[in-house]
Amino acid sequence: MSQTQAPIARHLADYRPYPFVLNETRLEFQLAPSATRVRAELALRPRAGLEDLVLDGGKGLRLISLAIDGAAPDPAHVSRDDEVLTIAAAALPDAPFTLRTEVEIDPSANTAFEGLYMSGGMFCTQCEAEGFRHITFYPDRPDVMAPFRVSIHSDKPVLLSNGNPVAQREGFAEWHDPWPKPSYLFALVAGDLVAISDRFATRSGREVDLNVWVRPGDQDRAGFAMESLIKSMRWDEDVYGREYDLDVFNIVAVDDFNMGAMENKGLNIFNSKLVLASPETATDADYERIEAVIAHEYFHNWTGNRITCRDWFQLCLKEGLTVFRDQQFTSDMRSAPVKRIEDVRTLRARQFREDQGPLAHPPRPDRYEEINNFYTATVYEKGAEVIGMLKRLVGDDGYARALDLYFDRHDGEAATIEDWLKVFEDATGRDLAQFKRWYTDAGTPRLTMAEDWDAEAGRLRLDFTQATAPTPGQDDKPPRVIPIAIGLISPNGDEVLPTQVLEMTEARQSFGFDSLGARPVVSALRGFSAPVMLERLLDDATRAFLLAHDTDPFARWEAGRDLALSALVVLSQGREAGADYVDAIGRLAADDGADPAFRALCLTLPGEEEIATRLSEQGTTPDPDAIHEARDGLARRLAEAHADLLAGLFERMAVAGPYAPDAEPAARRALRIAALGLLNRIDGGDRAEVLFGTAGNMTERMAALSCLLRRGRGQAALQAMHDRFGDNRLVMDKWFSVQVMAAPPAEAAAVAHRLARRGDFDWKNPNRFRALLGGLAANHAGFHAADGAGYDFTADWLMKMDKANPQIAARMSTAFETWPRYDATRRDRARGALGRIAAMAGISRNLREMVTRMIA
Ligand code: PHE
Ligand code: ZN
Repeated sequence: MSQTQAPIARHLADYRPYPFVLNETRLEFQLAPSATRVRAELALRPRAGLEDLVLDGGKGLRLISLAIDGAAPDPAHVSRDDEVLTIAAAALPDAPFTLRTEVEIDPSANTAFEGLYMSGGMFCTQCEAEGFRHITFYPDRPDVMAPFRVSIHSDKPVLLSNGNPVAQREGFAEWHDPWPKPSYLFALVAGDLVAISDRFATRSGREVDLNVWVRPGDQDRAGFAMESLIKSMRWDEDVYGREYDLDVFNIVAVDDFNMGAMENKGLNIFNSKLVLASPETATDADYERIEAVIAHEYFHNWTGNRITCRDWFQLCLKEGLTVFRDQQFTSDMRSAPVKRIEDVRTLRARQFREDQGPLAHPPRPDRYEEINNFYTATVYEKGAEVIGMLKRLVGDDGYARALDLYFDRHDGEAATIEDWLKVFEDATGRDLAQFKRWYTDAGTPRLTMAEDWDAEAGRLRLDFTQATAPTPGQDDKPPRVIPIAIGLISPNGDEVLPTQVLEMTEARQSFGFDSLGARPVVSALRGFSAPVMLERLLDDATRAFLLAHDTDPFARWEAGRDLALSALVVLSQGREAGADYVDAIGRLAADDGADPAFRALCLTLPGEEEIATRLSEQGTTPDPDAIHEARDGLARRLAEAHADLLAGLFERMAVAGPYAPDAEPAARRALRIAALGLLNRIDGGDRAEVLFGTAGNMTERMAALSCLLRRGRGQAALQAMHDRFGDNRLVMDKWFSVQVMAAPPAEAAAVAHRLARRGDFDWKNPNRFRALLGGLAANHAGFHAADGAGYDFTADWLMKMDKANPQIAARMSTAFETWPRYDATRRDRARGALGRIAAMAGISRNLREMVTRMIA
């Protein structure tokens, strides 16, 4: 087979049901690192007319035997290519039958970590999206669902699969999962593992055994994951009325994992960085993320597993909803306003960026070549935003009724976005035809708002327009429904109109407000009520007014961010700005009545990437070096103007007593670190040095290390950290990435180069690879260095990684996705690097699709 086959695209419009019904799946594993035997028994029956039986199965499956109702079919009726095994209809009975296959596979050679592979001596699986076809021949698609019975022969002490345990003895285990599921939710783990265990009684009285399985020695870092699981189980009962449905729930931590975690039925498999945490090794952000991802995977049990996706185009059906649910959970567990601001920051940094570049696609795409390339910020984070809008439009009660109907109507099914919208229509009576565009259309609408004040009549009119720029393959962008949450504030700071949602449905539309005494200040897009770019002419004084007086915490923070961004844009163009911002931040820093976490967010300047994005939104070519300088300069001015205030905050926000990862102390640490980050520009790094030596937790230690590196005096701290944590992979990942992130831009690629030559740069480990390449990509001016060193370094490693692990190579290639917005020199160099990748012999389908889209 040639390496340069034409790409095969899949289209939503081509969907058709699988022509066979699968009643049961039985699997038997004989585990051995390089020669595992898999016997499969599938109880099938033709759905309507008899057709050829097409089973997915990769090149790595060595077929040992094949039988239909106990007999080998005529070889003339069996054919195989790189992707599928086909048994001609002529060899099949037109009635229920049993297909038996036996294959041999080599988990020890599996460096792509898809299917059955080995990590640190243990066997584990990753099947979403299409990994099961590397384990056995199977209809590997989410709309084919069956109960599974799995037996495992292995000398490993712990043998796990989905569902409930049926039998367990030395060298053998059998598991039964009664809930019909698609193959992507299958999982198997065999290893030398230890568990921390607990129990949970569901509200209808089911007693569930809970286990978090880790490598021996890691038990003392698994407790927080267990606490998070229990909170999640309770929350899903309380808020969504959803109970767990098996006798056991297992979580396993593995060191080699392509993604964050996976919701396999009853057997969630996690990247160890999202399970293991201790104050000595994990930061506050790590803890918050562990809690959120444990919840996310647990919530999938209903939104994803009990109701799954008909096909992979519907991925956001489970992911958007489950992200939305984990966001709700975190806002209930921690500070809701802070969580909202953090989510919007992520959305803008990752999804807006995606939407503005060559990789833009709708939350529900209708075409892909490699589905693994569509586990994106658009499918996940925008998918969640769309649900937030829906909830705002139908109200909390309407949302609750729609969700109850969704679970009632579709339990046990593989559903679509149409099914999802239909339950909202049926439960609320609302027509969602126009709303559906949020799912099918790519791009971020640009919303403009102008004010017209009639002083005599006491009347304010708000004039809105919406427009969305074309995205690849979609030129026509009809108007969408946009919920715009608005409040009005009087000049003395009182709210004259509490939050109201305006529903915009046209390309241009006006809304009037009467009986106003004085001209109010408009607080717009409160809570970030829609994922749009809002443009309005606002002077810095009004922004500062909103930062001081808005009652909506998101809008308040947004006013501060706008103030910062508008100053940074001007500064990066070599002109003077920022006085209002510096004053306003001083007032906020001094406001001890405000939530420390909120103040920390406001004291953190927008990142360089964000400034670049704002500039290009405004039609200006961003200059990474000028942006870096401008941001540095403004931070220094803040520090100089408020040195005493910040020093006071740094002292007062120290948290006494033992470390707890809770929101309150974490907020104090966040504010303390924000102050440190500014003071570090003027104290030469002295505070950071003291903090590094005395910190009793990883949050402050990492912040101090980063500050020291930025002052060019981090060597001793790096060494100390390595001496102490050299054998802890997760800490060493941080150690790698911080050095690249905090390097001066001109040296970033060289630093990355030096680190890549270290013996402990275990590049096949996805976390380590991401630490280094992701660290460089996060150093905006470093990655985009004008000499192209950042691009070349990244391209070289992507090509190397592609041969071992195409998913990781493809995912990390998104470092390049913004290339078209830079100047001609950078564009040439980036395009050159991408062209080199595209021309690579034997490039994977994953990486090829990504680079082709980026240089199209
Ligand atoms: N479905 C997983 C999650 O969100 C993500 C994942 C996708 C993991 C593909 C592995 C492979 O929650
Ligand atoms: Zn998910």
